[in-house]
Amino acid sequence: MVNTRVNLSGLPLDNPVIPASGTFGFGYEFAELYDINVLGSIALKGTTREPRFGNPLPRIAECSDGLINSVGLQNPGVNAVIDEELPKLARVFHKPAIANISGFSIEDYAYCAERLDADDRVGLLEINVSCPNVHNGGMSFGTDPASAAAVTRAVKAVTKKPVYMKLTPNVTDIAAIAKACEDAGADGISLINTLLGMRIDLKKRAPVIANKMGGFSGRAILPVALRMVWQVYEAVDIPIIGMGGVASAEDVIEMLLAGATAVQVGAENLVNPWACPRIIAALPDAMAKYGIDKLEDIIGGAH
Ligand code: FUM
Repeated sequence: MVNTRVNLSGLPLDNPVIPASGTFGFGYEFAELYDINVLGSIALKGTTREPRFGNPLPRIAECSDGLINSVGLQNPGVNAVIDEELPKLARVFHKPAIANISGFSIEDYAYCAERLDADDRVGLLEINVSCPNVHNGGMSFGTDPASAAAVTRAVKAVTKKPVYMKLTPNVTDIAAIAKACEDAGADGISLINTLLGMRIDLKKRAPVIANKMGGFSGRAILPVALRMVWQVYEAVDIPIIGMGGVASAEDVIEMLLAGATAVQVGAENLVNPWACPRIIAALPDAMAKYGIDKLEDIIGGAH
């Protein structure tokens, strides 16, 4: 029997497949479709200090092999996540979840991290310095090594949970940002968030998305994500959660060979809400096909 277990900085996962933040709500919504305990973990919708309604509509533009979103971090705020969303999730999911934190200041990140640090239902903090859909926050912290490091240090100062910095691909040197986060104490790196993109409505002669631009994700971005996971693996000695265009068990294996320890599935959940259990069920056969007994043995195996 093949072994699909992996470990993220002391957090053991039965398998490396995790639905990505922003594509899976707070998780419990999917329990109506299948037993979500088959998942390695769940990355929750990005949480901010205050509740957010998000960006004006339309927020979605369809593309070949992907989509653009500009949701704008819609969420009920960290206190409601702790008091309302996590209890609902705990009723149907019996593993630690991954809380995804966004902010508009370093203090915002630290506040949310400190609140979530006290919650046993959260096993790992994913710090989103990569949202392309808000001004004066999000991605602006993740495009400069010094700013990414400052957020890392502030969060590490208030939590004992593993801290994974979620990076944007909209930079020229992803390895430099990842290294700055590692040097500032990050326990791991998550990448990639979405690529900044846009579509034009031909009839209106105007951008499809109200916010004009948004984040492009889906199967089309897998090669970009693999390239960046590869580069970051060469630059740091901390674990990587790889994401971007993952849609099959073979994609998961490719991500691990590039250097990821675990993998998030994002846009594919919007195409097929059963994508994650389908990928998990297909993993043993795909491993057997490529002569893999133990997934942990192949992490970074293509280097
Ligand atoms: O707009 C959004 O809520 C997306 C967030 C992200 O890509 O990090």
